[in-house]
Amino acid sequence: MPLLEVRGVDAYYGDSHILFDLALDVAEGEVVCLLGRNGAGKTTTLKSIIGLVPPRAGCITLRGRDLAGLPPFRVARLGIGYVPEERRIFGNLTIRENLEVARRTWGNGAGQPWTADRVFELFPHLATLRDRPAGRLSGGEQQMLTIARTLMGSPSVLLLDEPSEGLAPLVVEMLAAQLARLKGTGLTMLVAEQNVHFVSELGDRVYVLEKGTVRYQGTMPEFVANEDVRRAHLAV
Ligand SMILES: Nc1ncnc2c1ncn2[C@@H]1O[C@H](COP(=O)(O)OP(=O)(O)O)[C@@H](O)[C@H]1O
Ligand SMILES: [Mg+2]
Repeated sequence: MPLLEVRGVDAYYGDSHILFDLALDVAEGEVVCLLGRNGAGKTTTLKSIIGLVPPRAGCITLRGRDLAGLPPFRVARLGIGYVPEERRIFGNLTIRENLEVARRTWGNGAGQPWTADRVFELFPHLATLRDRPAGRLSGGEQQMLTIARTLMGSPSVLLLDEPSEGLAPLVVEMLAAQLARLKGTGLTMLVAEQNVHFVSELGDRVYVLEKGTVRYQGTMPEFVANEDVRRAHLAV
């Protein structure tokens, strides 16, 4: 059974039909990439999973449990961590304080629950800045902190919405290395991205979206070798 399964999902904003019969699955320990141009429906897919844009048709399950009708905070408690595009941190709190306020005791993720110390082991750069107010961090540091905060809920699966967006190339490299270490802990991830290069080492499998529909799915090596798909559906 997949850890996370999306089947036949249709999603709307008001009368606008955005996702069409969308299906994807993520197995335990897998990193799955959701690729597609701007407006393809990546963010809407993640929001459907977390319950911010509840599907009007179809089914989303976590370990076989139907998530239909659950508000986002309940979905989070069941083990889905969501890192939205806009980085939500408390600018006047330090890094350590941002982590402590995000700590959740219901964590049901794989292995031990996350603590600030465990997060600092994974993100040594954040550890060196632990007493700095988050508002004074660079964009890349804020992105790392946003991910770290979500880990404090000890999720079973982490949804990341365009984590590399707006970051300088060197910072993107650093973030990629850190997500690779996170994958090394066994954490399951679903990563929405436009930056194919950023995820090409990290991802195990790929879904390519266009106009709210899955246009391609395959393993990362298959996808990387398929220049036609990349040209047809992505800005590369
Ligand atoms: N709040 C909204 N209201 C209406 N339409 C929206 C809203 N958010 C996104 N859309 C539309 O939904 C489509 C998919 O958007 P989105 O999921 O954000 O794509 P992506 O994340 O792949 O860039 C786009 O056509 C976009 O204009
Ligand atoms: Mg988006």
